[in-house]
Amino acid sequence: MTLWKCENPRVCAVFFLAVVALTVVQRGSINSAAPFELERQEKLGNWDVTSSNCSANLNLSSQAWFRGLEDNFTQFLLYRHCRFFPMLLNHPEKCAGEIYLLMVIKSVATQHDRREVIRKTWGKEQVVNGKRIKTLFLLGKPSNEAERANHQKLVEYEDYIYGDILQWDFLDTFFNLTLKETHFLKWFHTYCPRVQYVFKGDDDVFVSIENIFEFLEGSSHDRNLFVGDVIFKAKPIRKKENKYYIPQALYNKTYYPPYAGGGGFLMHGELARRLHWAAETLELYPIDDVFLGMCLEALQVTPVKHNAFKTFGLVKNKSSKMNREPCFFKNMIVVHKLLPPDLLHMWHLVNSDLNCSKKVELL
Ligand SMILES: *[C@@H]1O[C@H](CO)[C@@H](O)[C@H](O)[C@H]1NC(C)=O
Ligand SMILES: *[C@@H]1O[C@H](CO)[C@@H](O)[C@H](O)[C@H]1NC(C)=O
Ligand SMILES: *[C@@H]1O[C@H](CO)[C@@H](O)[C@H](O)[C@H]1NC(C)=O
Ligand SMILES: *[C@@H]1O[C@H](CO)[C@@H](O)[C@H](O)[C@H]1NC(C)=O
Ligand SMILES: *[C@@H]1O[C@H](CO)[C@@H](O)[C@H](O)[C@H]1NC(C)=O
Ligand SMILES: *[C@@H]1O[C@H](CO)[C@@H](O)[C@H](O)[C@H]1NC(C)=O
Ligand SMILES: *[C@@H]1O[C@H](CO)[C@@H](O)[C@H](O)[C@H]1NC(C)=O
Repeated sequence: MTLWKCENPRVCAVFFLAVVALTVVQRGSINSAAPFELERQEKLGNWDVTSSNCSANLNLSSQAWFRGLEDNFTQFLLYRHCRFFPMLLNHPEKCAGEIYLLMVIKSVATQHDRREVIRKTWGKEQVVNGKRIKTLFLLGKPSNEAERANHQKLVEYEDYIYGDILQWDFLDTFFNLTLKETHFLKWFHTYCPRVQYVFKGDDDVFVSIENIFEFLEGSSHDRNLFVGDVIFKAKPIRKKENKYYIPQALYNKTYYPPYAGGGGFLMHGELARRLHWAAETLELYPIDDVFLGMCLEALQVTPVKHNAFKTFGLVKNKSSKMNREPCFFKNMIVVHKLLPPDLLHMWHLVNSDLNCSKKVELL
């Protein structure tokens, strides 16, 4: 909708009512099977990619090193140059006006219960001390055909209700998480010139908005702010059974650049805009958080490690009391990993009249 100034309140009120009435009439007249179809079309906005016609890079097949790779890596490499996909669901209006904090959450079509709980807890859109917080979920297409058939309409309906889903026309697979990263950065660069900070994370984490605010407002942060559960000198995993296995042919250095666990990190909006530029110039890497570390390295920005971000550690010892202790969560910014019932439970505990005797000073 276009912005218009209100000179005469009565005229404006009448105009507003007319718009509402017209909208109701229009909605009512649409075929009831797809009441949200029209609106969806209008919201695609000016995303400049409309076709994903990208064919395999068959140049590679003649090379010996390529033929020696496991199937999932040959598949990745054949389509690595395919970098731009159309949007299925877009919200160009999401970043209108000044936004202090944009919460961006990686999710997949089938995990709608996680999104539901996040909307009720830490992902709730709100205004804190006059500062606006907005939330978005990032989705591709379900990688499995049956799920694609069953879930797409549900995702569209969910988005019709909440208006908080960005969806691109690529398959939601592990190696395509990097596409999710680059597409989000491009989207952010296109639509969000006035977002001050970005929190980006997974849909199975606990987040404390209060502590994010305390951190952001507690001291001054420059335009290179990038903070999370950062690991330095991580070595590429060479064991084939591992989910994060990377063959020498794909990465031959001893160490990765410093990078933050993708479970949750915080960055300056200005840096996110520069990361888009870096992401466009680097070759895609199959592990998304390492890829982002490579982008930071290209910008000569060193990510900062902060103890209130726990995206790697905790799961190691599931029976540890730390996993259940609300006073521990109260002092954290991100904790991995909590599924809907536990998240809801912990959220209520942390936000109740908790009496934490010893406040662990982490912030
Ligand atoms: C897709 O690309 C191929 C080869 O580049 C071309 O022959 C074909 O017409 C394209 N299809 C569409 C729908 O653009
Ligand atoms: C394949 O090789 C040709 C010739 O060297 C080159 O023009 C083309 O861009 C290559 N294709 C890809 C996808 O890299
Ligand atoms: C990523 O998504 C594209 C488009 O849907 C698909 O063709 C490709 O196979 C996916 N890549 C991987 C590595 O799963
Ligand atoms: C890639 O394939 C290897 C060997 O088949 C497997 O061990 C590994 O888990 C796969 N990686 C991913 C991310 O699917
Ligand atoms: C490592 O990989 C880079 C880029 O793929 C390549 O240029 C370089 O020759 C490789 N170095 C070694 C020692 O294999
Ligand atoms: C895990 O934590 C429990 C409870 O704190 C402790 O008893 C146990 O020894 C720990 N296990 C390991 C492997 O650290
Ligand atoms: C918190 O705990 C302290 C020490 O046990 C106690 O003195 C205090 O009354 C408690 N406060 C509340 C609000 O329960």
